[in-house]
Amino acid sequence: MAENPKNQMKSDPTDSMTETDMLELTIPHLVKPEDLNHHGTLFAGQMARWLIEAGLILSSRLTGKPEDIVCVQLNAMTFKKSVNNGDLIEIRSIISYLGTTSIMVYSQVIRKQETVPLITNSATFVTVDKVGRPYKHGLKLSEGYITKNRDVCEEALKIRGQK
Ligand SMILES: CC(C)(COP(=O)(O)OP(=O)(O)OC[C@H]1O[C@@H](n2cnc3c(N)ncnc32)[C@H](O)[C@@H]1OP(=O)(O)O)[C@@H](O)C(=O)NCCC(=O)NCCS
Repeated sequence: MAENPKNQMKSDPTDSMTETDMLELTIPHLVKPEDLNHHGTLFAGQMARWLIEAGLILSSRLTGKPEDIVCVQLNAMTFKKSVNNGDLIEIRSIISYLGTTSIMVYSQVIRKQETVPLITNSATFVTVDKVGRPYKHGLKLSEGYITKNRDVCEEALKIRGQK
């Protein structure tokens, strides 16, 4: 479970939430005509919007302060297959790294009934105060969580090394 000093939070979201609730999130989307590009497939800009929203929601759930979360980086959003009008997709996001002020979220986009991700992405968020200065969020991933999600957590460390 992520550890968070309670004095940094407006309310404690850990009270009624499991580790999975806190650190993982699945959001479904139905791809509609307004989400498409000029090829008739899902527009990358719309996908980026959904990925950032998913990361913001997950980070906000963790800190309990949505107003303090900003996105600083989208890393290597990769489209492996096209997504089509009428597809029902799921964005499956998990926390992949907790820094001093940063929170990294790894996401996979899966088409319902399939297992191979269509799109993958990593995004970094930062906790900022009212004037936009980063502050320490005080969160830490447990060793058990890192072991369970080793590949994703190691990938996040690599991305951090590249920035
Ligand atoms: C996010 C922001 C406050 C960071 O400011 P900064 O001066 O770079 O702050 P710092 O150097 O202290 O870095 C803060 C954290 O962000 C991380 N970071 C900074 N630049 C980064 C980048 N390009 N990619 C990934 N992480 C980055 C740092 O590693 C650090 O993480 P850590 O505390 O866990 O080690 C600033 O860049 C900003 O305000 N950006 C605009 C955010 C925005 O408007 N987003 C769109 C709306 S959501």
